[in-house]
Amino acid sequence: MDNLMEKIVSLCKRRGFIYPGSEIYGGLRGTWDYGPLGNELKFNLKQEWWKTMVREREDVVGVSASILMNSKVWEASGHTQNFVDPLVECKICHQRFRIDEKEQIKNHEELHEKKKEKAEWTEPKKFNILVETKLGVVEGEKNITYLRGEITQGVHVNFKNILNSSRLKIPFGVAQIGKAFRNEITPGNFTYRSIEFEQMELQYYVRPDEKESMKQYDFWKKTRMEWYKNLGIKKDKLRFREHAKDELAHYACAAWDIEYETPFGWKECEGIHHRGDWDLSRHEQYSGQDMSYFDEETKEKFIPWVIETSGGVDRAALFFLIDAYHEEAGRVVLKLHPKLAPYKAAVFPLLKNKPELVKKAWKIYQELKKSFEIAWDDRGNIGKRYFSQDEIGTPFCITIDFDTLEKDDVTVRDRDTMKQKRIKISELKDYLEEKINA
Ligand code: GAP
Repeated sequence: MDNLMEKIVSLCKRRGFIYPGSEIYGGLRGTWDYGPLGNELKFNLKQEWWKTMVREREDVVGVSASILMNSKVWEASGHTQNFVDPLVECKICHQRFRIDEKEQIKNHEELHEKKKEKAEWTEPKKFNILVETKLGVVEGEKNITYLRGEITQGVHVNFKNILNSSRLKIPFGVAQIGKAFRNEITPGNFTYRSIEFEQMELQYYVRPDEKESMKQYDFWKKTRMEWYKNLGIKKDKLRFREHAKDELAHYACAAWDIEYETPFGWKECEGIHHRGDWDLSRHEQYSGQDMSYFDEETKEKFIPWVIETSGGVDRAALFFLIDAYHEEAGRVVLKLHPKLAPYKAAVFPLLKNKPELVKKAWKIYQELKKSFEIAWDDRGNIGKRYFSQDEIGTPFCITIDFDTLEKDDVTVRDRDTMKQKRIKISELKDYLEEKINA
């Protein structure tokens, strides 16, 4: 499909999914604001993640740690030293690019070629991508710290607190969803690489045992891939990719990415990392606190190993949007899984100027709103209203017409098949529930 990304970016802005950050002031590169529909989509995504990763499991708890942490955390975690991206700089216009962003480098070279210039690049330099900030009120006495570069460390520094305040036994996991910040050299591809983004992570603590840890690693790899598939992403657009040894992050001894095939190539959506004892050992070393686990049954004391699943909420939202976008039969339709769709249904009175229809429709709308996110639309003809709801992924449209007043039933139109069905008002809630959770 031509210009798919342009179409998605435009739809996102026009319909209130995603806007450029600080737009009225000329924007701030790499930042994005979510509008009413984007906010619902992200909320639904996070809710689905939390439900399957925490609520439905007996071995995982959730936390919500501070974005700001003592700067020693970042020394211990290795980020002040190792959280670096290699970049090259154009000697003509001093623009900088990550060396793995081959496409952007090529585009830049082509820009110069058009001006009959030859782009020349500096040798790769290392650039720390932690975002620095200063805390304190007195100028000159402010302390430098960082906005967290990954949400992970807020879990590991609380390892003992969580153990001492719960009855968890190894193996167990701690989940968290929250913002992370990176001074990305080349933010781009819409929200794909942003400066500020949200992560959803699980840190799963296991015994320091090769076989046991690999068993858990394989389990989480599979579980995470299934999660995307169960929410409707096309199977052939997803794949695993193993990190080469020289590509591994400083904390990882093994890493596989779940990748999605975007219009700008296969791109990372989520990383599954074997972090070994890196985090807890380093925090023990730097804080001087005991970070070990004592196994009451075997009487062993050890530093657990960590299997991590680390996904981006914004990336997942973007990939679900790309995957859902369809142009067919003269309409644009977002075939989002009903669990993710911002609205589960839209309610329409057939005619706006018939008070008896509007009154009945409004009653149904208010009733359904108690259980689901529901849209209301009474403008223009029904065809236009369908078109408008298709474009934002609303799975069902409910029309209240003159028959409704007589028979207490409504027309329910399915977004994907466009087929219509009469359903009793008293059965509507159950019907929608069943369809959404199918
Ligand atoms: N705790 C491990 C960790 O942070 P990562 O592979 O650097 O691992 C995990 O990041 C996920 O966070 C990525 O798979 C991606 O979904 C998301 N992410 C990372 N950098 C991002 C950025 N600049 N913009 C949007 N999402 C990003």
